[in-house]
Amino acid sequence: MTVKSDPQQLFKEIMGSYPTGVTVLTTLDEHNKPVGLTVNSFASVSIDPLMVLWCIDKKAGSCEVFKKADKFSVNILAGNQQEVCWTFASKSEQDRFSKQPWVLSENNLPLIKDVFASLECRKVQQIDAGDHYILVGEVIDLDKNDQEPMLYFRRKVGSVPQDWE
Ligand SMILES: Cc1cc2nc3c(=O)[nH]c(=O)nc-3n(C[C@H](O)[C@H](O)[C@H](O)COP(=O)(O)O)c2cc1C
Repeated sequence: MTVKSDPQQLFKEIMGSYPTGVTVLTTLDEHNKPVGLTVNSFASVSIDPLMVLWCIDKKAGSCEVFKKADKFSVNILAGNQQEVCWTFASKSEQDRFSKQPWVLSENNLPLIKDVFASLECRKVQQIDAGDHYILVGEVIDLDKNDQEPMLYFRRKVGSVPQDWE
């Protein structure tokens, strides 16, 4: 077993090796400007009603916007959208939405195009959890394209392997 001299580092290593999908969470700020960030803490919560959750770092630049927002959209990336993943995770990228096509939905939420699926949500709960907030949403609209989803594993992203069993 690994010597637990630095539990936080070990925790990061463990969680970074836990494979997940990749989403980009989006909403509009108070000036109707789209904001978004790459997130892999997304999870399904409930079927009846349809509910999901995700976690945002209290230090994220968009944290205050998502705290104030009453809605958000979960854009589940397709396997070939690596550039979208890194653009929305980059601190230095100021104009993330100019890099790929997106539309404003009927619910007034930014939706990234060509994703695997999108879930538009009404925020129903916001839970203070350590250095993050857990945001819980009820799904108000959902859509799926004919694409395979992206996988994240050890700081790399890509498509589902062909020899999957
Ligand atoms: C694969 C991946 C998953 C991520 N998951 C999360 C997450 O669940 N929550 C979070 O707050 N940041 C997450 N991040 C980090 C944010 O995307 C990154 O800090 C982003 O620049 C924050 O943008 P902002 O400061 O403009 O809000 C993730 C990054 C990557 C590459």
